[in-house]
Amino acid sequence: MLAIPAALRQRLQQFGQEHVIDGWDRLADEQRQGLLAQLNAIDLEQMQRLYAQRDKVFAVPSPEKIAPVPVLQLNADVTEEKRLGTEALARGEVAVLLVAGGQGSRLGFDHPKGMYGVGPVSNKSLFQIHAEKVLALRRRHKHPVPFLVMTSDATDQETKDFFAAHRWFGLPDDEVTFFRQGTMPALDLQSGRLLLDAPGKLFTSPNGHGGTLTALADDGILDRLSSQGIKEIFYFQVDNPLVKVADPVFLGHHLKAHAEVSSKIVAKLGPTDKLGNLALVDGRCTIIEYSDLPEALAKQTDEHGKLRLWAGSPAIHVFSLEFLRRVTQGALRIPFHVARKKVPCLDATGKLVQPQVENALKFEMFIFDVLPMAERWTVVETSRREEFEPLKNATGADSPATVKAAISNLAADWLAKAGVTVPRDANGSAAVPLEISPLYALDAEELAGKVDCNLKIDGPTYLFKP
Ligand code: UTP
Repeated sequence: MLAIPAALRQRLQQFGQEHVIDGWDRLADEQRQGLLAQLNAIDLEQMQRLYAQRDKVFAVPSPEKIAPVPVLQLNADVTEEKRLGTEALARGEVAVLLVAGGQGSRLGFDHPKGMYGVGPVSNKSLFQIHAEKVLALRRRHKHPVPFLVMTSDATDQETKDFFAAHRWFGLPDDEVTFFRQGTMPALDLQSGRLLLDAPGKLFTSPNGHGGTLTALADDGILDRLSSQGIKEIFYFQVDNPLVKVADPVFLGHHLKAHAEVSSKIVAKLGPTDKLGNLALVDGRCTIIEYSDLPEALAKQTDEHGKLRLWAGSPAIHVFSLEFLRRVTQGALRIPFHVARKKVPCLDATGKLVQPQVENALKFEMFIFDVLPMAERWTVVETSRREEFEPLKNATGADSPATVKAAISNLAADWLAKAGVTVPRDANGSAAVPLEISPLYALDAEELAGKVDCNLKIDGPTYLFKP
């Protein structure tokens, strides 16, 4: 029978966590091995510290330290920026990073969110839309664009199977890298003890999109990209199908400023818009979570009545590879954020209970906490209509209905620019479902170069390359 190493037992006692091995004798050897592996991966001292700090509200800097961030306009004179970005893509210096490790709990879909069909006519999945943009970039710039997909224990196998079943959506499979983010255990809210969700199994969940950074470094991906000549990494999240993947103009702004990090922003719809707030804190580019921003500060307006902190984050960034290498050398210094959640777990008698109220603390790192470490950065404005409609909820705002409508509206705008007459409703929205495959046209300019302006649209229309 597999025994518990004495040092581990002692450590568990020291940190008040020996309950996790209470049923050790009743476990099969396989379960014991699993539990040992889980326990060996946990930093008990860190868990103790996180529990002790659970009530410490995230320290928002004092208001006089917070200032609006200078923002560049994407639609200004972009010729030089576009050239710089396009040249970097053509030299093969840009990789694309998609984070898809979240559990998508609000959407309530039983699979990784990327598998959700959002194409208003084609019902294509988010994964397919993103992958086809990477493929279109690859074809346009005649150079491989490494596609990194971050998964988690919750999404890894299904995501890989989905890509394989769809033949990597046309991408060479050796240009798609899946890597898995780390996990964090949850703690009982009352006692600070580790929670089990099955005999011999600790409850764990993904460690937040900030886990991207450690996972990229730990898996040697940064080194590999560097040896392939990659210099910039375009980062985005799985839930937003509108994103302009590796937008050359955005890349160009980043390159021109020799920035370590660049972020796109959209204007917030109001003071309580649930977007991260981009601001300067002590002169450094920072994102303050909407839930952390004091109401009075969120509502402040300038002399024109405009929100003082108006820049919201759609979570679209470019990181220079050197910056990511620098911040992941040694211990990564970004904090864990604490959330109170309902976590099903075993009670003292070993029975699985579904809590009715928050019973647990979960811990996540946020990728944007790395922004203030950048010495040089740029912030570039884009519009929601063109670039941001995330899939978060099953109904209402940010739901399949709004996402499909946003894809149709963007297609309508591109078609109108190309001279095609598009049926619209009273609000200016597309009156019929419309969709343009990234493989047909990656942007409005490309569409204008190939679509027949006499195209008649009188029902659902999908433009794609056969
Ligand atoms: P959200 O914070 O919106 O979480 O993630 P979610 O999993 O999509 O949905 P909820 O909150 O459970 O309803 C924003 C992006 O960050 C990724 C998600 O996959 C999504 O692309 N993410 C989030 C990770 O990759 N890992 C995480 O641990 C958390």
